Amino acid sequence: MCGIVGYIGNREAYPIIIKGLQRLEYRGYDSAGVALLNGEMNVYKKQGKVADLHNFAKNENLKAHVGIGHTRWATHGAPSDENAHPHMSNNGRLVMIHNGIIENYAALKTDLKKKGYTFQSETDTEVFINFIEDIYQNTKVDLPEAVRLALTKVVGAYAIAIIDVNQPGQLIAARKGSPLVIGIGKGEYFLASDATPIVEYTSEVVYLDDEEIAVMGKDGLSIKNLEEVTTKPYIQTLDMELEAIEKGGYDHFMLKEIFEQPKSIGDCLRGRLNAAEGRLHLGGISDYVNKVMHADRILIIACGTSWHAGLVAEYIFEDFCRIPVEVEYASEFRYRNPIVGEKDVVIAISQSGETADTLAAIELAKSKGATILGVCNVVGSSIPRTTHAGSYTHAGPEIGVASTKAFTAQISVLTMMALMIAQKKGTMAESAFRKILFELEAVPDKVAKCLDLNAQIEIIAEQFKDATNFLYLGRGFNFPVALEGALKLKEISYIHAEGYPAAEMKHGPIALIDENMPVVFIATRDSSYEKIVSNIQEVKARKGKVIAIVTEGDKHIVEMADHIIEVPHASEAIMPLISVVPLQLLSYHIAVMRDCNVDQPRNLAKSVTVE
Ligand code: M6R
Repeated sequence: MCGIVGYIGNREAYPIIIKGLQRLEYRGYDSAGVALLNGEMNVYKKQGKVADLHNFAKNENLKAHVGIGHTRWATHGAPSDENAHPHMSNNGRLVMIHNGIIENYAALKTDLKKKGYTFQSETDTEVFINFIEDIYQNTKVDLPEAVRLALTKVVGAYAIAIIDVNQPGQLIAARKGSPLVIGIGKGEYFLASDATPIVEYTSEVVYLDDEEIAVMGKDGLSIKNLEEVTTKPYIQTLDMELEAIEKGGYDHFMLKEIFEQPKSIGDCLRGRLNAAEGRLHLGGISDYVNKVMHADRILIIACGTSWHAGLVAEYIFEDFCRIPVEVEYASEFRYRNPIVGEKDVVIAISQSGETADTLAAIELAKSKGATILGVCNVVGSSIPRTTHAGSYTHAGPEIGVASTKAFTAQISVLTMMALMIAQKKGTMAESAFRKILFELEAVPDKVAKCLDLNAQIEIIAEQFKDATNFLYLGRGFNFPVALEGALKLKEISYIHAEGYPAAEMKHGPIALIDENMPVVFIATRDSSYEKIVSNIQEVKARKGKVIAIVTEGDKHIVEMADHIIEVPHASEAIMPLISVVPLQLLSYHIAVMRDCNVDQPRNLAKSVTVE
């Protein structure tokens, strides 16, 4: 959570920083602030969104060629002007922005108070910058060294940027556990939590590694780690288009991202799969296929929507590869004493590649000898850098807080992984393998057909926008889709929604059903079709309102349901990629009709980099 931006060079820093903060606002939107250095240090900060900060600051003196900015998702201290970043040290020289959490801040604060330090905010960051000031003042070292010494003592996660009023030609940054990218221009440097604020100015970037400190300025870029070892910056070329991070005519990023799915799934499959030639190859995991084939067990760890993709993968891997799969919430797994060994393969799924619980679960499984594969979207993020191998989803930047195109790309990659293993292991007949390849290739067109239902879904949304509860039911491969549909609705419309396996309804949730309860059934033609038809009848018998996602041409459910949404036919293993799309659109329209902030729902942030 929290987004950070920095600039040093010959351009005006403020426009770069404010635009960068707008791009990073998905990471947190409780408050925002900037510090601009131009002879003196000017700090402007405000509770609320980046636009509130801009309104507040726009008539001030914003001229500067060095500056840092922050958009906050509150951890220590409520959202307020005082707790907004940047934070200044007591002597007024140093200013810092920080994404992460300093766990030993309370002890540091007590020590600093004894030395006479005072604090204006409740944040760990203000403690952190004063801790650095204290070291800087009491040792004869330069500022980068004072930062390094401080970092050897703090416990927790950080991506930080610091400027010193007495050294306007220097911008210092460091990271551990929170992401940080440096953009390299001609005599200028950019830094940010991800590449979106940078892509407009340069495509040359360096992803800072954990425990590295970077110093940028007129002397160039130098990087050292906490052990004082200097490292040569590894410059990479950004593979990101500016259009990918703009709304492109859509009202919301979420809608744009839902509509991008034919392309994002296509991008994910491209170069990896050729059904006509019967070819499938995921280069990133090819060295690990044998390891997975002979694994005792596959453990999937993830959070939120990525966990739902993991559940779909459980059905697919067990069906295709005949390997036992367990799907774990990363947050539970990391705090248990899980039984994991060298013959286990862990697949970690994460859009952002930065989710703190998933990262910690990976470290735990790694320490127990498991092989870790990653399925991530953000290139260069922390998870792909800590796993043994993996495959990117190539869905492009996902900016709406509610995950949509990342989910379908994750399932696409996981399906390809399972197919690769199944083919090598011989657990799938060649004909079945080929059939699924063709079906995967057809998914982008089928998703496009689902998007044609947008207007119909909007009409259905109108009828249910005032509901206070929703139930989502599915069976088999569509059960995780029910969970995902419910999550989408609750996170952006604030309607209470629950996803359940349809057969479990009679063990409790059926008590909730009356004429006011909308029940969304994902009831496409598959091996449990007859069973789910019975479940629909059970709901209708209790006067529930049924919205059913069915396969085109369905003759039975149309007679029973209040509303039907027909999606193209696909095998049951492929269906989640298709059946989820109407649910994404339904929640989108309901949220818009309820006047909710679709892209930035309350209390949420896109990257959950705290436990
Ligand atoms: O970046 P990750 O995929 O690791 O994020 C996991 C969850 O935080 C994320 O899926 C969250 O549940 C979304 N808001 C769902 O739309």
